[in-house]
Amino acid sequence: MTSIPVVAVIGYPIYHSKSPKMHGYWLNQTGVAGYYVPLEVKPENLETTLRNMPKLGFRGANVTIPHKEQVLHIADFITDRAQRIGAANTLYFDGDGKIHADNTDGYGFITNLKIGAPDWNAKTSVPLVIGAGGASRAIIDTLLREGAPKLYLTNRTKDRASFLAEEFGQSIEVLDWEEKSGILPKVNTVINTTSLGMSGKGTLDLEYDRLTSSMTVTDIVYTPLETELLKNARIRGCTCVDGLGMLIYQGIPGFQKWFNVLPTVSDDLRKLLLA
Ligand code: ATR
Repeated sequence: MTSIPVVAVIGYPIYHSKSPKMHGYWLNQTGVAGYYVPLEVKPENLETTLRNMPKLGFRGANVTIPHKEQVLHIADFITDRAQRIGAANTLYFDGDGKIHADNTDGYGFITNLKIGAPDWNAKTSVPLVIGAGGASRAIIDTLLREGAPKLYLTNRTKDRASFLAEEFGQSIEVLDWEEKSGILPKVNTVINTTSLGMSGKGTLDLEYDRLTSSMTVTDIVYTPLETELLKNARIRGCTCVDGLGMLIYQGIPGFQKWFNVLPTVSDDLRKLLLA
């Protein structure tokens, strides 16, 4: 292809998305002559939009709320991981205008965790996953794929956790929401996948005194960058990994595929995304 590559992030609403900033930074940094634009698309217009995008010269797209599940009903090809997770965040359009759907959220999570906690090992990990929404599904999928032998899962709405556990297999033990502090002595990895701890949202009622220095603690929330969970974990000597890296690393496979260049992660990019 010789045309100038164009990629979009599609959501409704879309103004909150940090993806245009991030991919715009990478386009600049790599010197690629391409464009990455936000598109506000209503659910009823999603299919028509996606079918027309290849004709307009788009190479692909990111999809965000509320389209991540719906897009699987439209895509022509779906990766195994997107199928297992039940949602896609990254689309590629091939030369025939066919839509390929992938989910890179789990990849973003695990890459960030491995870089932030180099001694962490999935095979020896006993994670407590807090939350059973879309992000949790991607994270659990990747933890199990990486070899976590067992994990504990808790969610305010327990049925949602039980449903997820049934789908993903027997190595998941579902706990009542009230049991999440009591289990801490049995785990070595704590993962918050809920919105609790985000500015303006509620706080996570975990008994932080049960955190110990041998634990790895990570949060998908990155506003603030150091959540109450991460602050309390840091004070107790845990290895802490913030959530900004998950956002950044989930974007790398798409950028590489669309623009044919591997972008890099820098402090400048982190600062830009937090600004
Ligand atoms: P995402 O795709 O970002 O994971 P989601 O699917 O809406 O978003 O999931 C949000 C998660 O945060 C869920 O686990 C949700 O719990 P419920 O399933 O009980 O709704 C959790 N969550 C959000 N607000 C919460 C709150 N105030 N207390 C406890 N859990 C909360």
